Amino acid sequence: MELIFIRQPHFAKPGREFTAHLGICNCGEIGDGFRVAVFFRWWHLAGPNHLKVRQSMLVLPKGVRHMPAYLSRPVQEALVEAVRGIVQQAPLFVPAMPRTGKEMSVRMTNCGPLGWVTDKERGYRYQPTHPLTGEPWPPIPDGLLDLWRQVSGYPNPPQACLINFYTAEAKMGLHQDRDEADFSAPVVSVSLGDDCLFRVGHTTREGGTKSFKLKSGDVVVLGGEGRLAFHGVDRIYPSTSALLKNGGRINLTLRRVTQPDEGSA
Ligand code: SIN
Ligand code: FE2
Repeated sequence: MELIFIRQPHFAKPGREFTAHLGICNCGEIGDGFRVAVFFRWWHLAGPNHLKVRQSMLVLPKGVRHMPAYLSRPVQEALVEAVRGIVQQAPLFVPAMPRTGKEMSVRMTNCGPLGWVTDKERGYRYQPTHPLTGEPWPPIPDGLLDLWRQVSGYPNPPQACLINFYTAEAKMGLHQDRDEADFSAPVVSVSLGDDCLFRVGHTTREGGTKSFKLKSGDVVVLGGEGRLAFHGVDRIYPSTSALLKNGGRINLTLRRVTQPDEGSA
């Protein structure tokens, strides 16, 4: 748990002391579901306690962890370089919805032994090769395998890393990641580039959703009770990051697809 207190005792009016406590803690570290964003407290020195509390709280569904600024700028830059190399070998493709064939607004590719693809005829699935080139997907960069080891709490490595590219107009509707055979492994998501408005709900469409911004370097983990949480991206905030030369947002999601065989990776 990280808890930061900033004390400002001289922000005072005559006869009155003003003390602000600014507390920020990351819910991922103190247990699922709780993030106290900011709270202020102030009182008169003279007279009875005059307590006023203003608080803004973001309570995320259980099992959903948001780790703001988890990746340093150099790590983000290295990941962008790695993604560039992947896209050269495995070009971005246009995903289409099953049955209707309606094109999604993001552009996609993958790395890892398996990649997530979708098209009108065959729908959502994982496959070992790129749908256009027929080539195997490039390997998952070491930096992402390290991240998985740090945050997943899962003993085996990820098998797929879906790479979504968002232009300023792109978005992603509310959905669950449920094409995997092993829900005991989390989905680990990395944001690079422009900010987005991320929406997350519960494991059914009922029960409401919470929206918050994801910034470059943020990591989100959907695990445990939050593994099947509905989630989506409502909008991109253009020009909010200089990480990508031409703007836009990259999202990387690491997934475990199959049940590990006893003793294998
Ligand atoms: C996804 O759910 O595949 C992407 C989520 C995101 O872009 O943050
Ligand atoms: Fe997803």
